[in-house]
Amino acid sequence: MTYITEGGQKFTRHKIASPVGNIAGTCQVCHRESEEILRNNVYDRQRKVKEIRELAEIELVKAHVEAKAACDAGALAQEMDPFLQHVRNAQWYWDYAAASHGSAFRFPVEVSRIMADFRIIPFEETPKVPFNFDGRILFKSDKFEVVHLVLKPGEYLDPHIQPMDVVFFVMEGKGSLLIGKEVVEIPENTTIHVKSGILRAWPNTGKRPLRILVSKLFYITGSSGMMIQATI
Ligand code: HEC
Repeated sequence: MTYITEGGQKFTRHKIASPVGNIAGTCQVCHRESEEILRNNVYDRQRKVKEIRELAEIELVKAHVEAKAACDAGALAQEMDPFLQHVRNAQWYWDYAAASHGSAFRFPVEVSRIMADFRIIPFEETPKVPFNFDGRILFKSDKFEVVHLVLKPGEYLDPHIQPMDVVFFVMEGKGSLLIGKEVVEIPENTTIHVKSGILRAWPNTGKRPLRILVSKLFYITGSSGMMIQATI
């Protein structure tokens, strides 16, 4: 609510309305930015939250339709219960985020979290690798792990064998990949897929740090053999 002054008396207008309708009397009481910037701030955030909200709504509708199809096909109540509980929860999350209009602006990150259930993990918060290199585990699940690895010039990741397929991406620098008995020069911006069970080592043969993204595919194990290399 905005304030007005009458006869030297300051009081609230008691007119509940959108604050963007009177930016000079609302936002600019505290902010020095222009009306345009402040208005765009509001609309930008609302637009982004709405985008995610619409995706969530499509999934929510699909879940309802699929639940009905399962019931019609003879699913038992005890089979449906846990599923319906999820649908009910999802509906409440949606309601919480969508009905409280202002929250899209006030708490855009919180509302996005409720709708999209994603995690933003700042680099500094990622755990270090359990060996003596400059490496961070960016993400890990039972099926997949991504590691950001930096080898200084002359540093050497010793020959080792992994029981799962690994995809490397060289983001920066130049390295030699020892793979099996071969040594392959790997230029920047190259993806290498190494199958499980193959001996490999990464010496940094360049003069710059070698930055590599390492993706471990825990769900592909036991295959062995060739290497696929693609330069993007
Ligand atoms: C009573 C004072 C006050 C009013 C009125 C106010 N704000 Fe703010 N606003 C703040 C304060 C304090 C912060 C937090 C600043 C910080 O954390 O650095 C803030 C933060 C923000 C931010 C976040 C800045 C950022 O870097 O993420 C935006 C955007 C913003 N306000 C826009 C608005 C708009 C648009 C309005 C009007 C609809 C408004 N504010 C009304 C005091 C106010």
